[in-house]
Amino acid sequence: MNVTIIPAAGRGKRMASPTSKQFLILAGKPVLAHTLAAFEEAKLVDSVIVVGKAKDIEFCKNRIVKKFGFKKIIGYVIGGRRRQDSVANALMALPPETKTVIVHDAARPLVTPELIDKAIKEAKHWPALTVGLPVKNTIKRITTDELVEYTLDRPRLWTIQTPQVFKADVLMHAHRVAKTDKLWGTDDTMLVEKTGKPVRVILGSEENIKITTPIDMLIAEAIIAKRKKGK
Ligand code: CTP
Ligand code: MG
Repeated sequence: MNVTIIPAAGRGKRMASPTSKQFLILAGKPVLAHTLAAFEEAKLVDSVIVVGKAKDIEFCKNRIVKKFGFKKIIGYVIGGRRRQDSVANALMALPPETKTVIVHDAARPLVTPELIDKAIKEAKHWPALTVGLPVKNTIKRITTDELVEYTLDRPRLWTIQTPQVFKADVLMHAHRVAKTDKLWGTDDTMLVEKTGKPVRVILGSEENIKITTPIDMLIAEAIIAKRKKGK
């Protein structure tokens, strides 16, 4: 059984809007509804768990899942302080027969069912897999007083997206180790890396942006408009 965890319990500090970014209206419906629609359509996804703040769970249930008729949602979990805590809470709610776990940010509403299914298929032979893209810009590490320390080797740098796909036992183990050793990661593959297991990277999509700052809503609207035109 393949289960997807959708962390949607963030505050959206960088977005700085009164409504959490996962509930902002994008092309007529909440960001989270776009995200869930892609998983509803993906052929290789059996079930979905949504992680939200306690105060948002009713909204997620009634105004998103019921309203849009999503059928794959098997649970709602209350999130934690950091993204990592939110995912860890969802891991406790996995059905025992879960073999594969997919983690995907609620804030990436433009993911496609095709990309989700491709990631799941490619992950078959790996403990963990993520989608990502080669970086386009030169990346430098800078000091705290804003001087260049050094320049990284661009051909080997990738920006990492979600979905990320894991063997269930691998991800559970990585989160357990992280908790015991007080490790922190901005994504889940980072925790698997720390256990020494290989993480495969495959090509994601330039359209699979994360809504992070206000400009991203404009970009997302433009991508959706382009997709509609292409149909
Ligand atoms: N997330 C979560 N629980 C948290 C923090 C984040 O479930 N405690 C989720 C967000 O809702 C989002 C995803 O993780 O869908 C990616 O995180 P990010 O883009 O950093 O969102 P926020 O943490 O909400 O934004 P910011 O960092 O700007 O506050
Ligand atoms: Mg965050």
